[in-house]
Amino acid sequence: MVRMKGILLAGGRGTRLLPATLAVSKQLLPVNDKPLIYFPLSVLMLAGIRDILLITTPEDLPQIRRLLGDGSRLGLRLDYAEQAEPNGIAEALVIGADHIGGDPVALILGDNVFHGYSFQERLRQECDAVDGCVLFGYPVRDPHRYGIAETDAGGRLLSIEEKPRTPRANRAIVGLYLYDPDVVDIVKNITPSARGELEITDVNRAYLERGRARVVDLGRGFAWLDAGTPESLLQASQYVQLLEQRQGVRIACLEEIALRMGYIDAEACHRLGVELEKSTYGQYVISVAEQFMNR
Ligand code: TTP
Repeated sequence: MVRMKGILLAGGRGTRLLPATLAVSKQLLPVNDKPLIYFPLSVLMLAGIRDILLITTPEDLPQIRRLLGDGSRLGLRLDYAEQAEPNGIAEALVIGADHIGGDPVALILGDNVFHGYSFQERLRQECDAVDGCVLFGYPVRDPHRYGIAETDAGGRLLSIEEKPRTPRANRAIVGLYLYDPDVVDIVKNITPSARGELEITDVNRAYLERGRARVVDLGRGFAWLDAGTPESLLQASQYVQLLEQRQGVRIACLEEIALRMGYIDAEACHRLGVELEKSTYGQYVISVAEQFMNR
């Protein structure tokens, strides 16, 4: 297990998905067969992170807690905190300061879906040795919508720009950030932007100015989707459905990941599957547990 804390930020207003998000958190909407929040949570679990703070709105917190509880069923420790208003992604690091304590932390956004070959291995390597901040870059067609990282030919980070009008590069910084424990002090010195938000770009820039920021390229064979609009939510569902149907495996099946990571044993996994057995998801969990029992 890595000595690292996790923060999953799952608040926001979800205005681009209205009216679907009038009464339900974006992060609880389904992506094919499971709630969106399973995807970022699975990333933290695959990284070996078990001590996780979930931050969400006061309205959404009871439902998210109802879904995930204290995490013990999955061998995790989940705590909850409220973000009263969506005052920016970096506010998660203020709200989570005590949770971070003196440890490195992985911050992930509740609407980001990651999937790709050897992602777990690369992530674990990065989590094992966080010095400064580690960002992940992904080539996009519409760089003006994202935080953009410019690097030199050797991959060294030169600049970070938030939603540039005339982008100098097309490498978006995705919603997964690894920081060393200094981030707690760094975020204290960030002032809110003109929008009144604590911008994560300002935190990352502070690391860059100290020469302590790196960008890891996720590369073109990788899938990174943020499910913030009706189109991207549907695309995420279609992507997940295609892979699950073709390969017969499930992406972001939390019970399976908990079992494979050794957080729970096969009997516990089987019990969790039985609770969901009317669904094909539940049947899948049972079959994975049975494979482990018959080994
Ligand atoms: P966004 O998609 O930028 O914001 P949103 O979810 O409120 O949606 P919309 O723009 O359609 O109104 O947020 C990205 C992710 O970060 C999402 O999972 C919500 C989360 N978030 C917070 O929890 N708190 C915040 O203050 C911000 C800015 C984002």
